[in-house]
Amino acid sequence: MKKFYITTPLYYVNSAPHIGHSYTNIACDTLARYKRLMGYEVLFVTGTDEHGQKIKDVAESKAMEPKAFVDSVAPIFKDLWKRLDISYDDFIRTTEKRHEDVVKDTLNILYKKGDLYEGEYSGWYCTPCESFWTKAQLVDDLCPDCKRKVEEIKEKNFFFRLSKYQNWLIDYINSHEDFIKPAIRKNEMLSFLKNPLNDLCISRPASRLSWGIDIPFSKDHVTYVWFDALINYISVCGYKDNPEKFKKFWPADIHMIGKDILRPHTVYWPIMLHAIGLEPPMTVFAHGWWKMGGDKMSKSKGNVVDPRDMVSRFGVDAYRFFLLKEVQFGVDGSFSEEALIARINSDLANDLGNLLHRSLTMVEKYFAEFVPERRDLKYSDEITKALIDKACGLDSEIKKGMDSIDFSYGLNSIWDLINMANKFIEQKAPWKLAKGNKQDDLKDMMYDLCEILRMVSIALMPFMPDTSVKMAGQLGLGDIEKRSFSDLKWGLLKPGTKINKGTPLFPRIEVN
Ligand code: ME8
Ligand code: MG
Repeated sequence: MKKFYITTPLYYVNSAPHIGHSYTNIACDTLARYKRLMGYEVLFVTGTDEHGQKIKDVAESKAMEPKAFVDSVAPIFKDLWKRLDISYDDFIRTTEKRHEDVVKDTLNILYKKGDLYEGEYSGWYCTPCESFWTKAQLVDDLCPDCKRKVEEIKEKNFFFRLSKYQNWLIDYINSHEDFIKPAIRKNEMLSFLKNPLNDLCISRPASRLSWGIDIPFSKDHVTYVWFDALINYISVCGYKDNPEKFKKFWPADIHMIGKDILRPHTVYWPIMLHAIGLEPPMTVFAHGWWKMGGDKMSKSKGNVVDPRDMVSRFGVDAYRFFLLKEVQFGVDGSFSEEALIARINSDLANDLGNLLHRSLTMVEKYFAEFVPERRDLKYSDEITKALIDKACGLDSEIKKGMDSIDFSYGLNSIWDLINMANKFIEQKAPWKLAKGNKQDDLKDMMYDLCEILRMVSIALMPFMPDTSVKMAGQLGLGDIEKRSFSDLKWGLLKPGTKINKGTPLFPRIEVN
């Protein structure tokens, strides 16, 4: 059996998740569901990043112990993922023993190898980014990434010899076309690597920051939060405690991230892996940002929208659909409630909802709720043939979208079919066929519409799992659990199936 291992970043628990976090998880969930439907054995992992200065500061501001604080936030992430139908297989927290053990092992291996050394550190620290900068890297004395205040720090620390592996990394990126995606991010990293790489400071003095994983060979230090968190990707799939599982799933197929954390994932991480004798992940995909009024949506900027609010007002699937369809995966998008409502009204209420409801209404009216039997396809006219061809191509169009991690491409191909089917109804004017006693023509077209809706309901499974099930219910399809992408073939709908019309799935949202 083929395997597919996909990960999300481990989110900082300094506050509740916003739309940006939900975006990465919805994208990963869609890919994971698709791969399961294609018969892969899937490992889909998400989790939380719980150490470091930033977390300790927030805990302190709430007069809580760091551990009690992180214990109180991790469930908020889990609850949201449940709410959004995120079908993750494992949830890893960096404060778990199974993870801490692997971090310590990794440090020991690198220390023995001579890839870690002790030195004097002096530099500027940005706490929101948990990153060190040199004076020369600062922009107007601010963090070059987030443009916030940095503080000067001088201390003894451990360093990881990134510089030793710089040429190896450049060769690796150049010879592995799929390692960094999309291409614009790969070029960004290759140009960053034109300058000499500084060794990475991977410890913090315990006297300044105690909230971290102990460095096994120095009681005075804890591990830098980034060095700690990246290792989750191997600790969660059995690197130390389940060699068989590890052999099966590593290297990961996709680390999905936002473009804000490209450097740790495509510079530190592959070098860490290479240095301990492991292969880098197959692909690191860095998607774009959701923005609000021109700015990146971010906890520390305070311009965030709560996904729970969107979902309780508009529904999970409408929300998933909007995020996946509105912008091409990889580029930035601008979030607004108006845009979300516009999408719901046009694509969901008008196009999909309408096609389903009017088709079922006609099956009810003309055939007493039973899907009629159609004649042989050879009796079809040109517009019917074109429609059926389109439906038969759905399979490969969705594959094309998923293989290139382009969700809007896949959804657009489904919507092309939906729109064509709506037009088909207008062209065929079934109400005239019914009056003109063209029973065979009417039967053919009603079967075709129901069959297209069945196929649409399968195609939507990875994107909108709940809608897919509801559609199958209204179409009267049994064995919903057993459906798979191999059912995306024309003609599998059984004549005589009894439909359950129900109410429209996506009522229009009126704005005043
Ligand atoms: O960076 N638009 O955690 P984090 C799109 N703990 N995606 C966004 C976004 C936005 N406006 N804002 C956040 C960390 N994200 C580290 C990761 S991994 C070993 C450690 C998403 O809580 C996106 O996936 O800051 C981004 O990369 C991630 O949240 C950053 O989450
Ligand atoms: Mg961040």
